[in-house]
Amino acid sequence: MEYVTLNNGIKMPIIGFGVFQVPDKGQCQEATYQAIKAGYRLIDTAASYTNEDAVGKAVKQAIDEGICTREDLFITSKLWVQDMENEETAYQGVVASVKKSGLEYIDLYLLHQAMKDYFAAWRGMEKAYEEGLVKAIGVSNFYPNILTNFCETVRIQPVVNQVELHPYFTQELALKTMKEYDVVPEAWAPLGGGRYNPFENDMLLAIAQKYHKTVGQVLLRWNIQRGVVVIPKSTHIERIQENIDVFDFELNDEEMKKIASLDMGYNGSRAKHFEPDFVRMCVTRKIHD
Ligand SMILES: NC(=O)c1ccc[n+]([C@@H]2O[C@H](COP(=O)([O-])OP(=O)(O)OC[C@H]3O[C@@H](n4cnc5c(N)ncnc54)[C@H](OP(=O)(O)O)[C@@H]3O)[C@@H](O)[C@H]2O)c1
Repeated sequence: MEYVTLNNGIKMPIIGFGVFQVPDKGQCQEATYQAIKAGYRLIDTAASYTNEDAVGKAVKQAIDEGICTREDLFITSKLWVQDMENEETAYQGVVASVKKSGLEYIDLYLLHQAMKDYFAAWRGMEKAYEEGLVKAIGVSNFYPNILTNFCETVRIQPVVNQVELHPYFTQELALKTMKEYDVVPEAWAPLGGGRYNPFENDMLLAIAQKYHKTVGQVLLRWNIQRGVVVIPKSTHIERIQENIDVFDFELNDEEMKKIASLDMGYNGSRAKHFEPDFVRMCVTRKIHD
């Protein structure tokens, strides 16, 4: 496993396993357990995915079977917008996530969106960090202007910014901004999230064929070589194993550029942070009473 070092000195695996849209508890536990068995040490969940408990059970199962120790694992979760009213609701949101997971602590906790009172929410997360409930705190979906203002303002700097990153949405300015503030970029939808049809792209297929790899592995390798942490999701064991097998080949500069030329300059996912309807959908979505 390769690691990146966060700005608070903690090491984070460069590849992890995402569990978005796996609401079925049994399926989530099994997929997460299989991922840990396959060698993943980073698991990415969120309060809004409603499966922190299933992830916690898979972690316990893997530890009980001697596959790894708790210290080997790096568990990420995220605070949903509903809990970003003020410092106290945010702090209680972290407490709830830790409790739900059944773990003593969570390794990395993120503000899921730059919505509602995210500065107050950050102060609640700073408190949880200083109490050791979480070992690192970061942000997600912070576009360059928002991240800049945030880093220039907050007391404790975020360690990570998890944003949509793949060859169809390369976000060079986002990466440059994160570098300036020593914030590690983490890619959600690193395989395109089921969109863009990369698996039938001739250029990607040719590169994959050259290295006897799959298009999925090329997509993940491309982000890793840019210094980006990737968290592919799958509920299929063969794909779970395939997606972590990306450390035995290296793309050359020309291939890196060719792949980046797929950039559309905008994202094709439903997560449109500049659209009022999307923001309204997030701020009104309740994940608990
Ligand atoms: N912070 C945020 O706002 C945010 C937003 C979205 C996602 N995320 C995180 O990022 C993780 C990854 O993003 P994502 O789940 O949206 O997208 P993704 O990992 O890019 O793509 C997942 C899709 O690709 C398929 N797939 C997986 N491996 C494959 C392979 N080797 N070949 C072909 N298809 C493959 C999966 O299907 P099967 O499952 O059927 O294999 C699924 O449909 C999430 O699980 C979540 O943890 C965060």
